[in-house]
Amino acid sequence: MHYKIKLSRRLQIIDNMITRPYLHIWDCCCDHGFLGLTLLQRQAAETVHFVDIVPAILNQLKDDLDKYYGAEPQQSEWAVHCCDVEKLPLARVSKCPEKDNHLIIIAGVGGELTIKLVEAILSKFSHYRLEFLLCPVQHNYQVREFLISRRLGLITERLLIENKRGYEILHVALNAESPISKVGSTMWDFSREEHLLYLQKTIAHYQRIARRPQHKVSEIIKQYQKLLQSQPAC
Ligand SMILES: C[S@@+](CC[C@H](N)C(=O)[O-])C[C@H]1O[C@@H](n2cnc3c(N)ncnc32)[C@H](O)[C@@H]1O
Repeated sequence: MHYKIKLSRRLQIIDNMITRPYLHIWDCCCDHGFLGLTLLQRQAAETVHFVDIVPAILNQLKDDLDKYYGAEPQQSEWAVHCCDVEKLPLARVSKCPEKDNHLIIIAGVGGELTIKLVEAILSKFSHYRLEFLLCPVQHNYQVREFLISRRLGLITERLLIENKRGYEILHVALNAESPISKVGSTMWDFSREEHLLYLQKTIAHYQRIARRPQHKVSEIIKQYQKLLQSQPAC
């Protein structure tokens, strides 16, 4: 018996971006765990970990996992961790850091928190085989700038517009060779009007910030405008 899951378009895209085999996938800030459950059903990793800081959410999730995945002999295992993602128990589950590969998903939280969580994980586990799939809500430029400063490289990136909101989804790793761009690179498809609109809205957002004193964003605006100017129709 399987748990019926209706994934948002954003979570569907994140699911589709996971194409390699992993020993451990961590659905961090999982909330109801819809993404992790989808990954568990399709056995995307040997172990799918569900991580959230709210006990009530995880108790419910654990009951559902026990009910739907407890009795069946599954190839994939699951684990529930009620903790701050800053304290991800990688060392506890990974016996061989050089060999075990981990995919850490952090989606649906703000960019500043995303940076804080990735920073905490990298500070302890940068010698592990880590990949990150990140989909921050806002502050994409700052997240990208941070990832570049920590020498991560790009595996792939996607831009999704859902309910008039843009989501940048970044799959990155320490050993990936392609550089990460602060304003995005392969995700843009300017033959799609919604991508062009998202870029224009992003520029307008920084232009509003530039009007406030103490906010030095002219370099950011220039970089986004360069993308816009590279389009023949603009
Ligand atoms: C909006 S939900 C995101 C759900 C899902 N990841 C998505 O993309 O739709 C945010 C979740 O992050 C959890 N959260 C926030 N800060 C956290 C932290 N430091 N450690 C673990 N979970 C956290 C909240 O409890 C909440 O369930």
